[in-house]
Amino acid sequence: MRVAPAFLAAAVLASCATPLTPPVVAVEAGLAPDSIVAARKAAFMLSAATFGGMKPVVERGGDVKTLAFGARGLARWAEALPAMFPESTRGLASRAKAEVWTDRPGFEARAATFRAATAALLDRASAGDAAGFAAQYAAVNAACDGCHETYRAPPPPR
Ligand code: HEC
Repeated sequence: MRVAPAFLAAAVLASCATPLTPPVVAVEAGLAPDSIVAARKAAFMLSAATFGGMKPVVERGGDVKTLAFGARGLARWAEALPAMFPESTRGLASRAKAEVWTDRPGFEARAATFRAATAALLDRASAGDAAGFAAQYAAVNAACDGCHETYRAPPPPR
């Protein structure tokens, strides 16, 4: 097939022409505050399910090595927790009390206690230390309650 030289010239020109419109760069906006609230509520519920699910194994003196996966999840959640309470989420429909922001150092201290307790829980699980795990289980439980006491409001009436 014979291609018209004029067409070829046009094709060559088009291929080396200056780039067309630059690609649209998607600018990642931060998470919307209500998405952060939804995510932290989900994480709290999942952490409660994971933590509660460990109880039967603790009570029957079972193999705590099987709980390492869940303990690692709790430890990771504990690392992420403080950042899930940014100023932008203050006042949204949530059980977080104003004290989370008015007494930030106190809240951070509770979160740090929780972080240390869950890290130690993971450590005891990995070691297969049932007695140590049971003691640490109680410590984590106390860390949950210790924070809720001051920083979580009662559930809204249904
Ligand atoms: C450092 C503070 C802190 C620690 C530690 C903590 N919580 Fe909470 N928790 C909160 C706050 C604040 C809320 C309210 C969050 C909201 O409504 O946005 C909450 C909410 C919850 C909720 C309700 C979630 C919902 O959907 O309304 C559950 C369940 C929960 N926590 C369980 C736990 C368990 C179990 C632990 C320990 C394994 C724990 N929390 C550790 C502060 C904490």
